[in-house]
Amino acid sequence: MNRRTLLAALGIGIPAAGALGWGLSEWMLAAKRDAAPSRSGAMQQLIGSPFALTDHKGRRVTDETFAGRVRLVFFGFTHCPDVCPTGLAYIAETLDGLTQPEAAAVSPLFISVDADRDKPDLLATYVAHFHPSLIGLSGSEAEVAQAAKAFRTYYRKVPTGGDAYVMEHTASIYLIGPDGRLRGFLDTHEPVQTAVAKIRLALSDTPSGSAMTGERSS
Ligand code: NI
Repeated sequence: MNRRTLLAALGIGIPAAGALGWGLSEWMLAAKRDAAPSRSGAMQQLIGSPFALTDHKGRRVTDETFAGRVRLVFFGFTHCPDVCPTGLAYIAETLDGLTQPEAAAVSPLFISVDADRDKPDLLATYVAHFHPSLIGLSGSEAEVAQAAKAFRTYYRKVPTGGDAYVMEHTASIYLIGPDGRLRGFLDTHEPVQTAVAKIRLALSDTPSGSAMTGERSS
């Protein structure tokens, strides 16, 4: 049934149909305007799930393990010559710029994209070199691929001769809010205080500051 037949069936005359048509388009515009705020809210997209990996202490973890917490997520590999050390040193400095209750509400995750070499033991030594609260995550090739997919990040194995290789990967440091939505990225070119401010903003989104309630009340 097209609109004319529908209108005829409803017993609406042509002049009224014109008014109804105008009213409809106005209504649709209004609906679009109303949708605008939620669309900008949707830009803070849910990211980083699902994944299942093993932490540097050998415990199985998933995205659910860190639900409700502010997360810093960085992809890399322990044999990385400079990008990873730079990023992890920056994350370490940022964590030290937070108060203790704030830092306790943040999970800094280093996800290795080098499934062959980065086993929990090696990751444990590596992350401890940068910061005691840094969490190293690794897994099988399929698990790492799934984690990268969940964060929409890119990596690639690049042979460098013989059995040697490096892992190409993005240098992004994700900042994820307690609701699992992407708040933005930390940038190692910015002063550490900027990163600290970004994290504080994400922490303030925590429902009634619940992530830090324990420390605050003690
Ligand atoms: Ni790297």
